[in-house]
Amino acid sequence: MTIYFRIALFVWLIFGGGLGLAREGPPAAAIASAHPLATQAGHEVLAAGGNAFDAAVAVSAALAVVEPYSSGLGGGGFWLLHLAKEGTDVMLDGRERAPLAATARMYLDETGALIQGASIDGPLAAAIPGQPAALAHLAEHYGRLSLAKTLAPAMGYAREGFEVDKPYRRRAAFRLPVLKRWPAAGQVFLADGKVPVLGARIKQPALAATLEALAQRGAAGFYQGPVAEALVAGVRAAGGIWSREDLAQYQVVERAPVRGQYRGFKIISASPPSSGGIALLTMLNILAEEDLSTLPAATRTHLIIEAMRRAYRDRAQYLGDPDFVDVPVQRLTHPYYGAGLRAGIRLDRATSSADLPGIQSQDSGPHTTHFSVIDREGNRVAATLSINYPFGSGFMPPGTGVLLNDEMDDFAAAPGVPNVYGLIGSQANAIAPGKRPLSSMTPTFVENEQGVLVLGTPGGSRIITMVLLGVLEHVAGADLTHLVSQPRFHHQYFPDEVEYEPQAFAGELVKDLQALGHSLSPRERPWGNMQAVFWDRARKRVKAASDPRGVGEAVVR
Ligand code: DON
Repeated sequence: MTIYFRIALFVWLIFGGGLGLAREGPPAAAIASAHPLATQAGHEVLAAGGNAFDAAVAVSAALAVVEPYSSGLGGGGFWLLHLAKEGTDVMLDGRERAPLAATARMYLDETGALIQGASIDGPLAAAIPGQPAALAHLAEHYGRLSLAKTLAPAMGYAREGFEVDKPYRRRAAFRLPVLKRWPAAGQVFLADGKVPVLGARIKQPALAATLEALAQRGAAGFYQGPVAEALVAGVRAAGGIWSREDLAQYQVVERAPVRGQYRGFKIISASPPSSGGIALLTMLNILAEEDLSTLPAATRTHLIIEAMRRAYRDRAQYLGDPDFVDVPVQRLTHPYYGAGLRAGIRLDRATSSADLPGIQSQDSGPHTTHFSVIDREGNRVAATLSINYPFGSGFMPPGTGVLLNDEMDDFAAAPGVPNVYGLIGSQANAIAPGKRPLSSMTPTFVENEQGVLVLGTPGGSRIITMVLLGVLEHVAGADLTHLVSQPRFHHQYFPDEVEYEPQAFAGELVKDLQALGHSLSPRERPWGNMQAVFWDRARKRVKAASDPRGVGEAVVR
């Protein structure tokens, strides 16, 4: 072998071969979402030559139709994207914005007391939707197919209807009074003012027409023209404060995700205006020094609870829309900061939340959905989408088919008054015109040489702790099915209690945690609806799993 040939071989092996390996995509595509029809829509679009981003448009739009209580064109969300060819990650921020006429005290009466329900029910609770703009942006900048193709399954479901299932009935019953208050929403989602029976078909022709406008004209089909006019007219006629300018001004923002490391795994997650990624990294940094799998169950659980308490304290104090407030992202996600917080944790005793440095107390802010996609090129999407409470604000501007969110409740409405999820906040998350309310949505990638995990879940303030428990189990080597189904526990600083699902604390754990001073609050009703896909690079396999608490479907194809 000549020296030149040897050099050429060496260069090929190091660079060419290496690149070849890096370029090798997953052996199959996978989608996990909260509804079988949405998973199906995504796979149809992949089969038609679309990539993960096209599939994400199809899944988001389908969920908007068949899971109308969770997300929709009237809401917003975060789409965490991985571009395989470029090897880059980006977060698409399609979070709702406060209307320009919003004011800091808009949900308070003259005495400064919160007007019950004002930030939760009806048009005044609705922020300016971001999802339609995000879908148009995804299609234009990342997809291969036209919106007409990727929105087609959703339009079909809207026209032909979908069947009412148990989760639908439960949420419709919960929001019945609100859905009955405004006729347009009640006509679509109820049957003669009652919760529809199992198997009844919900058809949404007006929503199909709005989707059609989006397909034909892109974002302008929603934010300008007849749809925009009907949205604003409907909101104003019912006492809301939207203007045409609000819609015309709405912009999707591409943001850098937050990034960190946990015991050899790369963590990529949602950045502000979501609190999810920062709180997740703070918790992981607090826990990073210990090998949790070697600790007794009580110590392990105690440490995780104390990490939750501290991360949620910082959430309440520092986090808000980065376009309005300086969020100390670097500091809060730095390993040294986590180590500092760890140093304040006693192993023999629970910290009282009241003993942590207090926040400048002001109030901050279940429904929502998550899906995870990976295509055969290795492109990925983790998307958590929301209209906030089940069926959002319950308000639908007549003629639009668009059920509006009540994401305004995610702001801090008044000092010290918890929002619908019991979260408190500070000035950083006060209401201001055009501002995005702080979110807990945590679409996340977890990677090492062995593989790539894409995960997330709905669940209000509990989203971040669910993702934390998922990441910890993944790092400990757990199977994907266990990851989405494991019993959960949660602490959010205030109230100072540990909520837990049945079976979360086995054996002596309840007594052990109580002995450490934790106040335990068992919950009958489980929470979350985690959707995860995993590309096992080492074994050249793809897996997907859907939370058994929901009715979702995970399909590898
Ligand atoms: O953005 C947020 O944090 C909330 N609007 C999410 C609400 C939610 O997850 C409700 N789901 N059960």
